[in-house]
Amino acid sequence: MSVNVIVGTQWGDEGKGKITDLLAKKVDLVVRYQGGNNAGHTVVINKKTFKLHLIPSGIFYPHIICVIGNGVVIDPEVFLQEVATLKDNGINVSPKNLKISKTAHVILSKHKERDCNNEEAKDSLKIGTTKRGIGPSYEDKINRSGLRAEQYAKELEPYLVDSVLYLDKAIKDNKNILLEGAQGTMLDIDHGTYPFVTSSNPTAGGSCTGSGIGPTKIDKVIGIAKAYCTRVGEGPFPTELNDSIGIYLREKGAEYGTTTGRNRRCGWFDIPVLKHAVRVNGLTELVITKLDVLDDLDEIQICTGYNYKGNILKDYPSDINVLIECIPVLKSFPGWNSDITEISSYSDLPKETQNYLNFIEQETGVPIRIVSVGADRTQTVWK
Ligand code: IMP
Ligand code: MG
Repeated sequence: MSVNVIVGTQWGDEGKGKITDLLAKKVDLVVRYQGGNNAGHTVVINKKTFKLHLIPSGIFYPHIICVIGNGVVIDPEVFLQEVATLKDNGINVSPKNLKISKTAHVILSKHKERDCNNEEAKDSLKIGTTKRGIGPSYEDKINRSGLRAEQYAKELEPYLVDSVLYLDKAIKDNKNILLEGAQGTMLDIDHGTYPFVTSSNPTAGGSCTGSGIGPTKIDKVIGIAKAYCTRVGEGPFPTELNDSIGIYLREKGAEYGTTTGRNRRCGWFDIPVLKHAVRVNGLTELVITKLDVLDDLDEIQICTGYNYKGNILKDYPSDINVLIECIPVLKSFPGWNSDITEISSYSDLPKETQNYLNFIEQETGVPIRIVSVGADRTQTVWK
């Protein structure tokens, strides 16, 4: 029996969908614990691309039961649409393999309207939300005036369960459970770049409150990090590249928002950010994704610290006013200038690629378990 958590260590879009799908092969249940359809999880199977916003990424395996936990906010329309689209593509989806927590809150049209209006009204605090009504729905939840799924639509009813009892029984039956985070550590309402964050806790602690599984039941916390950084929406991003390399990363990495289609901002890998993620999530292992995107670069940089008014900070500062003024200290690595997308064993990776990965391990003290070298399930290197 194991209960493992997958969390994003950056600003979301780290490739959690692919890794969840990959690890799901060996589990019995996949549980989403926060966020809503602001998320966009891309899974590629046999060259076919699926984009999930609400349904857990385990849905493609017939043996898996997917649970939308109490910490998620559900737009019923989007939910039913996603179910229909999956069915149209021959994926088996029914209340047998997909459950919704009765105590998850719903997103209503008033929440979506409020999300859109917010954008225009508070110009000085423009977050660049996905406009899916996520924040306003959580706002009503915290204000104790929200609507829970069990009090809502008839159409949702067949999917509803007491998810806390359901997951407790699964644990007692020795099932393997994967808790799938959405967004990432730097978008966490408590630990991210507040106020430029989402309205939930993507970090590992959120997996307990958002599923009703107690912290003593968690075995591993797996942090997903992209081999470079991206951010969609507003807010500080110390290693952002506003040059031809930034454009190269966006184009080669197809860095466009899955939910909104917006351009993602791109930049170098950031060690202080990753070390922050290691701390607040208690990461036990790392997965590095999209490493192949760096294939054509002659030189690759990693941010090892921040220069703040002449002082070198080795750790990510919690004060956003300090963060805004930080200039990244960059360490240069030679590129590998070769195609790694067909490589399947770690020792076959070029020496330069291994150096890059070793440096990340050394700086964080957390072992890398998996390296992803392409979007398909098969393009995966296990260490
Ligand atoms: P909200 O979650 O729609 O309220 O948006 C708040 C911030 O989080 C915005 O900057 C969004 O672009 C960002 N965001 C929300 N969901 C995701 C995601 O799944 N991936 C990346 N960024 C996200
Ligand atoms: Mg995404």
